[in-house]
Amino acid sequence: MIAVLGGHGKTGRAVCSALADRGVDARPLGRADWPDLASEVAGCEAAYVIAPNLHPDEPAYVASALAALGSAGVERVVYHSVASPYAPAMPHHLGKAVSEDLVRRSGLGWTILQPGAYLQNLDLTGPLDLPYSPDVRFGFLDLADLGRAAAVVLTEPGHGGATYELATRVATVRELADEAGVPVRRVADPGTHPWLSAMFAYYDDHGLPVGTRVLDAMVQRR
Ligand SMILES: NC(=O)c1ccc[n+]([C@@H]2O[C@H](COP(=O)([O-])OP(=O)(O)OC[C@H]3O[C@@H](n4cnc5c(N)ncnc54)[C@H](OP(=O)(O)O)[C@@H]3O)[C@@H](O)[C@H]2O)c1
Repeated sequence: MIAVLGGHGKTGRAVCSALADRGVDARPLGRADWPDLASEVAGCEAAYVIAPNLHPDEPAYVASALAALGSAGVERVVYHSVASPYAPAMPHHLGKAVSEDLVRRSGLGWTILQPGAYLQNLDLTGPLDLPYSPDVRFGFLDLADLGRAAAVVLTEPGHGGATYELATRVATVRELADEAGVPVRRVADPGTHPWLSAMFAYYDDHGLPVGTRVLDAMVQRR
């Protein structure tokens, strides 16, 4: 049995589904399970830890999760980080860089996955409005590939102490939009959250490039 913290969200569902494909039982956990997390994870051999989007204090969330895993005797943790966590211009990335350090010093067996931006973030079924340049490069990750990679590190030996960057393909948003036959339009930042504004500004200047070879090797694709 593998506990998946944040397991009811889109990331967690991809992880649980890939585990089910391998015949492995997953226990998705959410907010309702948090007050008694140690009991909920008891008996699990490993846990996949996903923090909610834009959690105001991800290191505190991860520290609580690690404490619960430790007290319940769960021996291994896989932490869902992000590509380029140490990017001080993006506060939510920086929270993951700090959390990675907590995971590495937790005393548990650990593996860290650093996913690129999800392909599923982009709705390519119609015209696309983008608050950053459509011409910068990203390492985009398909959520199904994230699930497969998570299932590999959760169920196969040899991944303890590893940190893997994950991307399915490298592309610009304009290339993806052109392939889908939809127009892409640069729009102003809607200003919904200061951390998202910081992310859009960073994307605008640098994109978020991630190589694809680690994922290829993990899921044996060439
Ligand atoms: N989007 C991307 O391109 C991308 C790329 C790399 C990394 N990430 C990372 O992926 C994670 C987000 O995953 P997601 O999009 O799957 O998230 P999500 O769909 O928003 O789901 C997060 C889950 O966390 C649980 N949750 C929410 N608030 C909580 C709280 N205060 N305490 C405990 N659990 C709580 C919820 O479970 P319940 O509803 O069951 O309570 C929810 O199912 C973030 O850490 C993000 O930084 C995203």
